[in-house]
Amino acid sequence: MDEAEAHFDSGECNLAMHLLASGLEELRKEMSKSAWQRYVSEVRQHNALKTTLLCPFVSHAFSRPFGYPGDATLIDHIYGYVKPVLTGLPQSLYAYMTGASAPRSVRFRRHLLAHYVDKVLHERDIDANILSVGSGHLRELDVSRVISQVRPRRFLALDQDANSLAEVERCFMPFGVSTERRNIKDVIAGRLTYNNLDLVYAGGLYDYLPIKAARSLTLCLFSMLAPGGTLFVTNFLSDIPDAGFMEAAMDWWLIYREESEMLALLSGIAESNIALIQQYRDPDNNITFLEVRRR
Ligand SMILES: C[S@@+](CC[C@H](N)C(=O)[O-])C[C@H]1O[C@@H](n2cnc3c(N)ncnc32)[C@H](O)[C@@H]1O
Repeated sequence: MDEAEAHFDSGECNLAMHLLASGLEELRKEMSKSAWQRYVSEVRQHNALKTTLLCPFVSHAFSRPFGYPGDATLIDHIYGYVKPVLTGLPQSLYAYMTGASAPRSVRFRRHLLAHYVDKVLHERDIDANILSVGSGHLRELDVSRVISQVRPRRFLALDQDANSLAEVERCFMPFGVSTERRNIKDVIAGRLTYNNLDLVYAGGLYDYLPIKAARSLTLCLFSMLAPGGTLFVTNFLSDIPDAGFMEAAMDWWLIYREESEMLALLSGIAESNIALIQQYRDPDNNITFLEVRRR
């Protein structure tokens, strides 16, 4: 921490950040969960970590202006929709942070979501019936090649956050997208249900769901699929290199999962109902993707 602070003081931002990120990653691996949490609460007082709050991406995560972690405006920093005017150290910090490994994977995820949307729009054309859960700003539609050509029968964006859905309406209502402001608890409790979906996907939502909710939601969403329909969910993998910095400096605690844990989410679904299961990762090995097709 002291060394990183000295690098910041002498204008060597990247060196300082590299030292912080790698040091925190090592410590997080070595410590028990409770020891790590104690360490984090103490080390936040260090000037080196306080300095990183000069970065608007770090300070947004840390201050949670919408009252919960991982809001869509935070993710917009990663996608390049927020363009803060910065100079000096804040500018260097921002470039380092938004160019880091986990944000790269989030940008890859966005393109993958668009790919799944486009595939269904190609196959089902105007009959397509699509649900995005934890949609955020639905930015994947900006990189869809087909949404401007095909107006699907239904494209529903579900999120808990009214601000995010207002942005979805502003950007995508002309393409036939409608919004549903709900918590996924309503889906799990059966208060909100859909049927005959060709595609239901959740990008960046499962990282916030405890195991019980993740399991129940997966069963509910799968049951809403039409025959041949696809469920696609994503989760950050355990022990990604950026986790130490995210937790210590940004107060951004995800629920990480291994591929085997993702597969276990399907355990309540009868095998005879599943036509295909595919799992793969992004090129940076940060996110695991699970695709399940209904028979
Ligand atoms: C990290 S953002 C991902 C947004 C978008 N899907 C993407 O890939 O950029 C997670 C989104 O999930 C939503 N979310 C988190 N927990 C939720 C819940 N329990 N019910 C509904 N939405 C939730 C948040 O409001 C947020 O918009």
